[in-house]
Amino acid sequence: SASDKGGWSSFMAKEVSEQPDAVANTLRGRIVDGVVVIPELAEFGDEALARIRRIVIIACGTAAYAGQVAKYAIEKWAKVPVDVELSHEFRYRDPVIENDTLVVSISQSGETMDTLMAVKYAREAGAVAISICNTQGATIPRESNAVIYTHAGPEVAVASTKAFVAQIAALYLFALHLARVRGTLGSAELLEHTAELQAIPEKIATTLLQGDAVRQLATWMTDSRAVLFLGRHVGFPIALEGALKLKELAYIHAEGFAAGELKHGPIALIEPGQPVFVVVPSPRGSAHLHPKVVSNIQEIRARGARVIVIAEQGDAAVLPFADTVIHIPLAAPLFEPLLAVVPLQLFAMELATAKGLDVDQPRNLAKSVTVE
Ligand code: G6P
Repeated sequence: SASDKGGWSSFMAKEVSEQPDAVANTLRGRIVDGVVVIPELAEFGDEALARIRRIVIIACGTAAYAGQVAKYAIEKWAKVPVDVELSHEFRYRDPVIENDTLVVSISQSGETMDTLMAVKYAREAGAVAISICNTQGATIPRESNAVIYTHAGPEVAVASTKAFVAQIAALYLFALHLARVRGTLGSAELLEHTAELQAIPEKIATTLLQGDAVRQLATWMTDSRAVLFLGRHVGFPIALEGALKLKELAYIHAEGFAAGELKHGPIALIEPGQPVFVVVPSPRGSAHLHPKVVSNIQEIRARGARVIVIAEQGDAAVLPFADTVIHIPLAAPLFEPLLAVVPLQLFAMELATAKGLDVDQPRNLAKSVTVE
């Protein structure tokens, strides 16, 4: 009913707005004196976590993109190789699983059949399985050795939003816990990254203030036939998620690409008027990547693309080449996805709304897919 929406026009609008709380709730009780300690992992013992040689993340849909984002942080902080696999692909290709492989599944519902079957398969093959889940007592956590609940609150809209940022927050907690027990980060670095994580809820709230600008952009773009999304490093999975949101909600053909891949194919798609969103890395934090993405923007702009840039507040280098700039607050590079995804969620929601579509229940989709 409308009252459940708390005055919002849709569950999705409500859930997008709840993202600062979703992340705060994921962090609650897991940071003690500025240090990450996840009580749910205590039963493994630190030695078991220190012995892990490889992590395989399995998930579907938006949850898989949360996994792709987290791969960068886990490898950088905990120095463990991470593969991210779609659950349905993992299970049917005879994957190599050894007893020092840790499987981390991600599922908002905890009921996605493809992911459940992949977890069962991995455990039968001898892996230890951790579940990142938003639903208390769901099947996937019950089939796992341990669970880190995201505590984002119930997510009703079919397209996942607050669960996604909560999943990234939970995975970053996991990465910092792992880095601590493995001794791969010093205490100053652990404190610094943990503080960055704790600052995210407020920065998401600031990002949400771009809502009016994004709505205006979306209403101009209702006739778009195809929209491209480019990102690099952690911005790449965010480009994929931005494209997925637009497909799911607005039924517009959308593709996400790694910006570095542009010259290897996708640039052939650029013709005058083609809308392209570009997630730009920070000029401060990613000084080596920022100019490469700016030159990608110049290349597509020279071919007539209509460029919508998501860039850090104060990034002046992008201004001459962008038709529209959406600003996000300053954050360390690994934390930018938690902010950059917000305008992309809003864009898909506003464009679908402007087209008169039901953003909570898009056609052909289900909130949780309990068949293979
Ligand atoms: C469905 C939903 C997606 C979701 C995916 C995984 O396809 O429509 O929004 O990302 O399932 O769901 P899960 O509950 O496993 O996170």
